[in-house]
Amino acid sequence: MADRGTLTRRGLLVGIGAAGGAGAMYAAMGALGLAPSEQDKTFTPPRQGDFTLKGRGAAKVVILGAGVAGLTVAYELGKAGYDCTLLEASDRIGGRNLTLRGGDRLTELNGAAQDARFGEGVYFNAGPGRIAPWMVTMDYCRELGVPIETFVNSNASAYVHTEGRTVRNKTARADMYGYVAELLAKATHHRALDRRLTGEDRERLLEFLRRFGDLGPKLTYEGSERRGFTRYPGMDGGTALTSPAGLHEVLAAGVGRAITNDFGYDQATPMFQPVGGMDAIVTRLVEAVGRDRVRTGARVTKITDQAGSVTVTWEGGELTADYCVTTLPPHILAKIPHNLGALVTAALRTPVPVAAGKIGLEYGRRWWELEDRIYGGVTETDLDITHIWYPSYGYHSERGLLVGYYNSGEPAELYGALTPEDRRRRALTQGKKIHGEKYRAELLSSVSIAWERQPHLQGGWVRWPAFDSSFTLLQRPSGRVYFAGDWLTHLVAWQAGAMESARSTVTQLHRRVTASA
Ligand code: ALA
Repeated sequence: MADRGTLTRRGLLVGIGAAGGAGAMYAAMGALGLAPSEQDKTFTPPRQGDFTLKGRGAAKVVILGAGVAGLTVAYELGKAGYDCTLLEASDRIGGRNLTLRGGDRLTELNGAAQDARFGEGVYFNAGPGRIAPWMVTMDYCRELGVPIETFVNSNASAYVHTEGRTVRNKTARADMYGYVAELLAKATHHRALDRRLTGEDRERLLEFLRRFGDLGPKLTYEGSERRGFTRYPGMDGGTALTSPAGLHEVLAAGVGRAITNDFGYDQATPMFQPVGGMDAIVTRLVEAVGRDRVRTGARVTKITDQAGSVTVTWEGGELTADYCVTTLPPHILAKIPHNLGALVTAALRTPVPVAAGKIGLEYGRRWWELEDRIYGGVTETDLDITHIWYPSYGYHSERGLLVGYYNSGEPAELYGALTPEDRRRRALTQGKKIHGEKYRAELLSSVSIAWERQPHLQGGWVRWPAFDSSFTLLQRPSGRVYFAGDWLTHLVAWQAGAMESARSTVTQLHRRVTASA
């Protein structure tokens, strides 16, 4: 069958060549995916995870937004021969993929500008900061040659701060697992679960629970070396942390969210980050796409879908293309005049923008490594800072940068409404409860971001009240206008969502182009 297919295509090309000359034959070869191109000169065997559009398209596509979604659309369409132009409202390329370094300036809507004064080699991933290994982001890092390193997400040596008390994560886990195991083991032993368990089940469960909780011979949790030590063993046995608080106190500490926060499939262990900053992904995508294809400072003011083309108007220009892919946040796009109809506008208004914020706190001494022995990872809290992230790079170097808060929703709105100075003050007051006076005293510099105050974005991400017909409507084109972005996937707030959506959109667009070729 394969032979017949090849012969048929060859026969067709010979026919076209005879009738229309070399130009026509070449164009037809392009449509059939046979034309040689730069990338055809060296044979690269396909690898799992690689994405390729089969066949070539020559259509002109205007892409709105040069964030991760827009750049991925341009990258994939570019590989298949499309002529792409990206319009980006901001002066900066990358959207929410933002890494701040010394010398960078951050401005917010109705807010003071902040200058990052971080030292050499110090960076702050103000947007995305971690990648799970199963995510397509990893495939793009590999394909684009972005070097990656481990992002320590789960760290048992970090702290848990709840109800005004700070303990090591390992201590909180040991106690909670210990008591849960004890209760379940005793119930099992006393035959309370016999309606569910056979005699064999019972023995196996008890065997597991002894290990899970490090239970004593009488199935009682009496503490465990898993809680940690005030002085670790070496020449002598060290000093183990004294016996745990009672069951009542351990339950009252309310560590549930804090010790299960890294259980999710999207919070994998380990996770990864690009070496030197998350924006390496943007840098490589822009290199691959071509910087000259991105027009910055181009705020779109109108989208007009016509019978055979789309016209996009921005402040200072207008462009007509065969297709448009818009990757703008839905709440921003909804406000731009267009002729795509009321259903599209209503659908765009359905997802709710969510506030999200982070602060980067730079210190001249990595006291969390030297004194707390915390190398990367996250301290979970019930404070409005929610998390503290310790850096997963530059261990033992002089300076270092913590993420002093990473919050979303209400606490993010609270911080976002403050001035940068007040945000820092509040973050330091909270962090001091965990780390003591050095947290405030040794600070060198800081920068905070409130994503809901970022021009052209106005949100950290969106929340769909339900993945309903609005969601599916926008996963399909409206005339010649396509939509893409993390907000159109079940991976909202992940770069992987932006990339998955970009792939889905370019696949649909390319199918249409090749079907009509
Ligand atoms: N992607 C976001 C995170 O890493 C939600 O927390």
